[in-house]
Amino acid sequence: MRRKIVAGNWKMNGSKDLSEKLVGYVQAEAGSLDNGVEVVIIPPAIYIRDVLRQAEGAVSVGVQNVGQWQSGAYTGEISSEMAKDAGCDYVLVGHSERRQIFGETDELVAEKVALVVASGLTAIVCVGETLEERESGLAESVVASQVRLGLSAVSPGDWKNIVLAYEPVWAIGTGKTATAEDAQAMHASIRSVLKEMGAPAEEISLLYGGSVKADNAAALFSESDIDGGLIGGASLDAKEFISICRYFPASS
Ligand code: PGA
Repeated sequence: MRRKIVAGNWKMNGSKDLSEKLVGYVQAEAGSLDNGVEVVIIPPAIYIRDVLRQAEGAVSVGVQNVGQWQSGAYTGEISSEMAKDAGCDYVLVGHSERRQIFGETDELVAEKVALVVASGLTAIVCVGETLEERESGLAESVVASQVRLGLSAVSPGDWKNIVLAYEPVWAIGTGKTATAEDAQAMHASIRSVLKEMGAPAEEISLLYGGSVKADNAAALFSESDIDGGLIGGASLDAKEFISICRYFPASS
């Protein structure tokens, strides 16, 4: 079902201390959010237990990546079954840092998505164009292709376990953000690609990510096809993160 989600991706940041202080604050504030937003925290996997303990059920928890195997001799990897076993609900798949730094392809994204949904978790599948692609007028076609290929193995009953995050690569961690109108246009385009694929497009949550802060969240979240945000840097500041969650209009 389409729902409003604000997810904080800590990336390779944080500590036990941050897990205690930040999640303690978020846990205390999350109960007073009256706009129906689901708050998700995606810490480094090693802190998942700390975050879960501190969250006391007030927020959902996810992992930033899983391997493309179920188990075995893959030193350093964790599986989606393990993420589920540890108490997670979400898995980020295909974040642009995974694509750019670790060479993840759309084919690999598709394999991981299949494993994530098979284990009953929800995949937050990240897509987005580079600055060069945007400037060459290729943004929509690049993103459409990432959506088609990355979700090519999703079977009809599994769409309920898919969330998409549109994150223009040039906006991640740069302080530059897409205008609300440009983000809305891309989200509408993604929804039409999903429709073409036979997915229940109106039921799928589409998040925007890339330098979302308290001062630009309200404009982004008021767009009709933007169902929430994937927040990097600003999710490491408890007050800023909760402010972003509050900017969701209660009526949308
Ligand atoms: P940012 O990161 O908010 O720091 O730009 C977003 C993300 O990478 O998910």
